[in-house]
Amino acid sequence: MNILAIETSCDETGVAVIKDGREVLANQVASSEELHKETGGIVPEVAARQQLSCFIPMLEKTLRQFQPQQEPHQTLKEINRLAVTHGPGLIGSLIVGVEAAKTIAYTTDKPLITVNHLHAHILANWLDKSIDQFPQLPGLALIASGGHTQLVLVKDKPDWQFELIGETRDDAAGECFDKCARTLGMGYPGGPAIAEAAEKANNPDQFNLPRPMIDQDNLDFSFSGLKTAVINTVRKAKTNNNWEENDKNNLAWEIQEAITDVLVAKTIRAARKHQIKSLLLGGGVCANRVLRRKLQERGQQFSLFIPPIKYCTDNAAIIGATAYFIDQPTPWKEVTPTPNLQI
Ligand code: KG4
Ligand code: ZN
Repeated sequence: MNILAIETSCDETGVAVIKDGREVLANQVASSEELHKETGGIVPEVAARQQLSCFIPMLEKTLRQFQPQQEPHQTLKEINRLAVTHGPGLIGSLIVGVEAAKTIAYTTDKPLITVNHLHAHILANWLDKSIDQFPQLPGLALIASGGHTQLVLVKDKPDWQFELIGETRDDAAGECFDKCARTLGMGYPGGPAIAEAAEKANNPDQFNLPRPMIDQDNLDFSFSGLKTAVINTVRKAKTNNNWEENDKNNLAWEIQEAITDVLVAKTIRAARKHQIKSLLLGGGVCANRVLRRKLQERGQQFSLFIPPIKYCTDNAAIIGATAYFIDQPTPWKEVTPTPNLQI
């Protein structure tokens, strides 16, 4: 079964063709992140306008990658189903993908499957795998992205129930990376910028930041205090004329350590508490190499699944996989964008 999948929940425009939920036949992602560098974060209106203008070129590019010898519109007949992210996300961005998917469903008469973006970050762990390599359930998923930081129990198939057992009480981990990067003048997206700067650190012990809630006996997170601590540290150093060029690399090191320490501690605590068979990562922050390494070291007793970096950040391939494994078609007239969709 070939599924044409569409993802436009945040600032990316992703289109992909997935065979039988596992094989990525075509996968294209365009991002408006260059436009957000100046503002140090996503401006929803700018993201949606960009998605509107690049959707058709991205669709054509994907269909050409799928069947290079055919004209893109003819290729559609080899698609069996359509899939689209209907939430959570930015309303303007979701509208672009959802309306495009409904239009294709209407004109081609193909079944349309709606996908929860958060489920897709978890199901990224099923892509590119053979059946005997699939994660065993029940599993525990850490979803760490720009908008979410959640610990989710993934119950056994065929029901695929998802149970939220912990989440951030304020900012998401990715949001913390992004806001700290803005404070340090490093642009957007902040996660990769902080990770790159941290590699240039020459004195990793220069700064000490808090690890919020790390010792609390619960599965929740909080990152807004960490962001404030970074703002105060920079302000104080600059006021005292005590801010040198390499300080920002050392602070980036400590920011990355603090965020990943908390993510790892809470994930391992949750994994020990629940009788899980697999530990699953998902979301843009899971592209972070320090986080991946720490979880590999500390999560050795669990069967750990980490998607390749290209399937951690937003893309449509993970939407196609999720549509195949867990969702059923909805009549296109009933499909609406749902910005606050829960896990
Ligand atoms: O999953 P995603 O692509 O979009 C959302 O659903 O939010 O995640 C984007 C987030 C951004 O906050 C970005 O800074 C962060 O993921 N991110 C990273 C890295 N790559 C992306 N954070 C830390 N380290 C990275 N290498
Ligand atoms: Zn995402």
